[in-house]
Amino acid sequence: MDKETNKLGYAVVGLGIGRAHMEAASKSERAYLAAYCDIREDRLADAKRRYPDAKSYRDFDELIRDPDVDVISICLPSAMHAEFAVRAMEAGKHVLIEKPIDITVAAAMKIEEARKKYGVTVGVVHQNRYNVPMGPMKEAVDSGRLGKLFLGTFAVKWYREQSYFEGSWHGTWDMDGGGSLMNQSVHTVDLMQWLMGDAEEISTVMNICNHDIETEDLTVSTVKFRSGAVASLITTTCAYPGISTDIQLYGTKGTIEADADVLKTWKLADSDDEDAEEEEMLEKCSGNGRAEARDPSVLTGHRAVVEDMISAVLDGHEPRIMPLEAMKSVRIIEAAYESARTGRPVKI
Ligand SMILES: NC(=O)c1ccc[n+]([C@@H]2O[C@H](COP(=O)([O-])OP(=O)(O)OC[C@H]3O[C@@H](n4cnc5c(N)ncnc54)[C@H](O)[C@@H]3O)[C@@H](O)[C@H]2O)c1
Repeated sequence: MDKETNKLGYAVVGLGIGRAHMEAASKSERAYLAAYCDIREDRLADAKRRYPDAKSYRDFDELIRDPDVDVISICLPSAMHAEFAVRAMEAGKHVLIEKPIDITVAAAMKIEEARKKYGVTVGVVHQNRYNVPMGPMKEAVDSGRLGKLFLGTFAVKWYREQSYFEGSWHGTWDMDGGGSLMNQSVHTVDLMQWLMGDAEEISTVMNICNHDIETEDLTVSTVKFRSGAVASLITTTCAYPGISTDIQLYGTKGTIEADADVLKTWKLADSDDEDAEEEEMLEKCSGNGRAEARDPSVLTGHRAVVEDMISAVLDGHEPRIMPLEAMKSVRIIEAAYESARTGRPVKI
């Protein structure tokens, strides 16, 4: 904490997607970028150019001993999240952890146990909940306007070149914890369970279709929910050149469909004027960038998540997504892989 400005000292470890965290912290009115850490010289040099006033560390143990640092964003390869988050918490730091919380439920539980033990604030990055159609979609489900939700269709039809995986932790079971499902689609699995409620059982087929990698690049699943609803969930990194992220809900009183941050369909039977309401909603939810441009108080993406974390620490409330909530998507994905390996439906 800066004693003169009362701003929170923010730090980031892992400067890949961690660059979005640095940018968010540096733009915050209530925090400042105190430090960053990586073991790659090129990334440290780039950070130094952008943020000359922040401290640069190669050694995580030095970072966590820095008294100016209050919060650390953990942006390391996925299987390192629990170990580094727990070390930061032991040192008394609050942590914001990139998705997935870690690659197993057991590792995620260690984060939750440390959170309780050290009494620090822990948030997890699932920034897609801030995509502009998601708030209204959730509201339509919770208020009953969609009626009884009977079907969801979720499809992450993305594309990754082979070069993305070469010499990388991506696409490895031990560091990435999976392929198109765990890495590219955990956000969509998070949205699926957030919108549709607790999942009960999953049946999955997985394949490696078009990459030389250990993990899958295609999964096709059927998910049953406690509510009785069913969803299909498709994930791939082979859909050239990258097509869409379908998030589609079908209830007895309406249909809502989105592609990532763009609403595609808004049909609610209880509307006074269905077409006018749809037109208004499609305009309002036509992309994060447009929403932010129209109303600068709207934050999406990493800025929204980092700002939520800063306010959680300063104002003493819980971050929007805590470990037990983030663990739900990892639990579903673990069950999906078990189903794919055994050829049987798996209870969640
Ligand atoms: N929220 C999102 O949309 C989003 C997007 C991309 C990645 N991610 C997640 O963020 C995490 C990082 O992914 P990435 O794409 O940035 O990976 P990356 O490989 O580009 O970056 C990871 C960085 O961690 C550094 N690192 C590794 N070991 C270290 C150590 N011991 N000490 C300090 N630094 C170390 C590496 O040098 C590298 O620069 C993953 O968990 C990934 O799933 C989230």
